[in-house]
Amino acid sequence: MPVIKVHDKSFDIYLPEESIQQRIKEMAALINADYAGKKPLFIAILNGSFMFAADLFKHLTIDAEISFIKLASYKGMKSTGNVVTSIGLEVDIFGREVIILEDIVDTGKTLHHFLPKLTHQQPLSLKIATLLHKSEATVFPLNPDYVGFDIPNKFVVGYGLDYDGLGRNLKEIYQVI
Ligand code: XMP
Ligand code: MG
Repeated sequence: MPVIKVHDKSFDIYLPEESIQQRIKEMAALINADYAGKKPLFIAILNGSFMFAADLFKHLTIDAEISFIKLASYKGMKSTGNVVTSIGLEVDIFGREVIILEDIVDTGKTLHHFLPKLTHQQPLSLKIATLLHKSEATVFPLNPDYVGFDIPNKFVVGYGLDYDGLGRNLKEIYQVI
């Protein structure tokens, strides 16, 4: 079983590339069906969601727009509990069908902080698509509408997710040992 090292920690493979890609195709198919005839606006939350957003977007067959915002609450392997917006939203979401794209919903803090800012702008609908959900780690309850994988409460890296800046380029997802 491949073990990798990122900074001072060792990680085991948890989700191989093929499983991630297969699941993203399934998520895209659900979204294509649910939004047929509509033109949703995807809002991807940087940095972690960039790979998921790119791969999911390639499998959409509906008309769709995408925009990016940057929020962060993590430092190292712990959530700071403090959500900072460093790139804000530039598009008008009033009356739009909006789908948030996240790499991972962990405690729910990031989205709990961000969602009211969006609902305040009165989108027609607002849904959440996340590749990973640590449902056991919930502190701020949220029900993501599209979930790739429900995973245990262990730190993961790869496929856009980082440990102190490294590991984002891995094609697979790895779990800390
Ligand atoms: P919250 O707790 O706000 O967490 O739902 C969401 C954000 O925290 C980051 N995060 C992680 N990043 N491995 C990572 O590399 C993890 O296991 C992990 N858990 C949470 C991530 O940026 C996410 O958007
Ligand atoms: Mg993130």
